[in-house]
Amino acid sequence: MNISVAIDGPAAAGKSTVAKKVAKILGYTYIDTGAMYRAFTWYCLKNGINCQDEKASCSVINKVKIQLLPNDVVLCNGEDVTKPIREPFVSANVSYIASYKDIRLALVEQQREMAKSNSVIMDGRDIGTYVLPNADVKIFQIASPETRAVRRYEENISKGIPCTLEEIEADVRKRDYIDSHRSFAPLKPASDSVLLDTSFLSVDEVVEEVINIINKKLKEKEKRG
Ligand code: DC
Repeated sequence: MNISVAIDGPAAAGKSTVAKKVAKILGYTYIDTGAMYRAFTWYCLKNGINCQDEKASCSVINKVKIQLLPNDVVLCNGEDVTKPIREPFVSANVSYIASYKDIRLALVEQQREMAKSNSVIMDGRDIGTYVLPNADVKIFQIASPETRAVRRYEENISKGIPCTLEEIEADVRKRDYIDSHRSFAPLKPASDSVLLDTSFLSVDEVVEEVINIINKKLKEKEKRG
């Protein structure tokens, strides 16, 4: 039987770091849905499309083919965009793209397809509420905006992506606002999700906690038959 685990939460809450590690330990497939919205944004920017223009952005839906490959590799129309999609110019625009219903519907369809044939850990903003409403386990992972900004800043610097802490914190706060105020599938915890505050936990502690939550939920499910 395929298991699905949804991890949602605000920007830079450590979802992907944790989900990747848990997926490796449990042998599940990790699906980074944010990378798909980032790749779409990258395509628009590369082709001179204003990401704040919904009509122009949605007009290229059929021209954008996004593939998530093993080892976090992301392809957009066959081009490796793994690194550029993490750069600040993409981060600053991705929340606009992610607020457009038609783009979401196209990407959600792909996400649901990926979850059909594998046990998955999928991270994003709307996985538990919209993409996989029947997920076996739903976690809403949070941390304070300051903590998240420091984490993302250190991650970018370690990857050689130039940025300042101030610009990262401003970006995180702006994306939180746009992601949670859009009308279609906004960022919010599913009513049956487990809230996990990682502000004062190390990555390994969060990984352990997530695995505990998964095991507990799966046992409860088994008991219910
Ligand atoms: O997780 P991330 O920071 O890479 O996500 C990039 C953006 O994509 C984020 O600002 C919100 C959006 N997103 C979304 O709206 N729904 C998802 N399932 C995943 C990401």
